[in-house]
Amino acid sequence: MSETDSNGGLSISRRSFLKSFGTSAAVAATAQVEAVAKELEKATAEKMIGPEAVPITLQVNGKALKLQLEPRVTLLEALRNHAPLTGSKEVCDRATCGACTMLVDDLPVYSCSMLAIETQGRKITTIEGLAQNGKLTPVQEAFIDKDALMCGYCTPGFIMSVTALLKNNPRPTADEVKHACSGNLCRCGTYPRIMQAAFKAAGVASNSKTEVISYASLA
Ligand code: FES
Ligand code: FES
Repeated sequence: MSETDSNGGLSISRRSFLKSFGTSAAVAATAQVEAVAKELEKATAEKMIGPEAVPITLQVNGKALKLQLEPRVTLLEALRNHAPLTGSKEVCDRATCGACTMLVDDLPVYSCSMLAIETQGRKITTIEGLAQNGKLTPVQEAFIDKDALMCGYCTPGFIMSVTALLKNNPRPTADEVKHACSGNLCRCGTYPRIMQAAFKAAGVASNSKTEVISYASLA
């Protein structure tokens, strides 16, 4: 309560000052808490996607691919099971064999270990996207010419890895080819021919069979 001082002016008692100050502070604190709560609510709403299927758009082989997917779906599963792109193979499904290799922004990735939802807005290239108007790429032609496959399960992955290598390094050394393919496994053991195919695609004179075999011990 305000009081009148000896000069007729208004004076504020210590008690009423503290009381009104306390009320203002409490109001300000409450407003702050509410603002923080609203921000948290907004951030949580933005982060929480799924678990039910949500609309996803992927840029695959130069085209927009619209899918309805649960956020847990991998890129490999999205393209193999929710689109007709079965060229990339699922073998280990745990980032060890490279059969699922695709290019994301021109870099080779294990698509079995990447969520489809994460790749929105990025350029995805699968083995189906290499040939243009029915014309195979030099890497694909070289794999055929050098008979660089047996069962063929690893082949799309190797082709994608070699394609990525030659894009950045058109004349690689044997060690560079070996390094680029070190994430790909061929259980049939066609490594020497895969090496020969990579050399052929790069226009590098093929080494002798013995040299290629020694380079091709990728393990
Ligand atoms: S299936 Fe992806 S690395 Fe083996
Ligand atoms: S050709 Fe069969 S796994 Fe490589």
